[in-house]
Amino acid sequence: MRNVCGKRFDKYLTILYTYAIYFVIFLATMYMEVGLVDDKNISQAVVSRLPRYYRYLGELKDSGIERISSQDLSKLMKVTASQIRQDFNNFGGFGQQGYGYNVEYLYEEIAKILGLNKTHNLIIIGAGNLGQALANYMNFERSGFILRGIFDKNPALYEKEIRGIAVQPVENIERFIRENDIDIAVLTIPKDGAVKTAEILVRCSIKAIWNFAHVDLNVPESIVVENVHLSDSLMKLSYGIMNQ
Ligand code: NAI
Repeated sequence: MRNVCGKRFDKYLTILYTYAIYFVIFLATMYMEVGLVDDKNISQAVVSRLPRYYRYLGELKDSGIERISSQDLSKLMKVTASQIRQDFNNFGGFGQQGYGYNVEYLYEEIAKILGLNKTHNLIIIGAGNLGQALANYMNFERSGFILRGIFDKNPALYEKEIRGIAVQPVENIERFIRENDIDIAVLTIPKDGAVKTAEILVRCSIKAIWNFAHVDLNVPESIVVENVHLSDSLMKLSYGIMNQ
């Protein structure tokens, strides 16, 4: 009798263990899946498409559109619907079968991914034509990029104010960055001064450089550098004309 009970007990124990193991495997899988979404290195190609999605969704939102299907978004943006779905799947989807995408939600989520839900303080170094044009462009502020200071090495410009911000001597850059929580420096100076200026920026632990100078900057990997070459865009245009 005791033997039969013992065998039954062993059987229950085995079942219990099996369920426990399944449960642990289930939890581990869940954890890995969540981790995959969080940790996955999003490809630069996807990241480079996000600002365009953000721009289009912002326009849809401003014109009062509440939801959009991937097909309609695809027509509007001239990107395939599967590309859109694939891109958004990198961040866990956002869409609902048969409903499409909630425009405002998607807009806010992409803003979060791009870090646009926070503000970034920036300075412009080089108050010439390009520096002034960027300083005068108010729309950056709409996306949370707040212009705090403008610097130049030319004393003739120190009297000048751009949108209420006085141009300051370059000697003030280090102190200004430290005292004003500056994240981003915009370099709109010729290439010969850019390398030395970047060294100053590294010293004051700037987080990012938006580099318009035509030179590659040698800065630590911890500093994000975005090189902008408007002429690249023009060359693509020229290629397009040639191949029309
Ligand atoms: P600009 O001559 O009108 O202005 C340059 C300003 O930088 C001047 O006010 C000058 O005093 C100042 N500067 C020069 N060296 C400096 C330094 N070490 N520290 C602080 N200020 C300094 O020239 P612009 O048209 O505004 O262009 C600026 C630079 O941006 C040029 O070198 C140009 O090649 C480049 N650029 C790049 C573009 C791009 O797409 N990457 C497009 C247009 C210009």
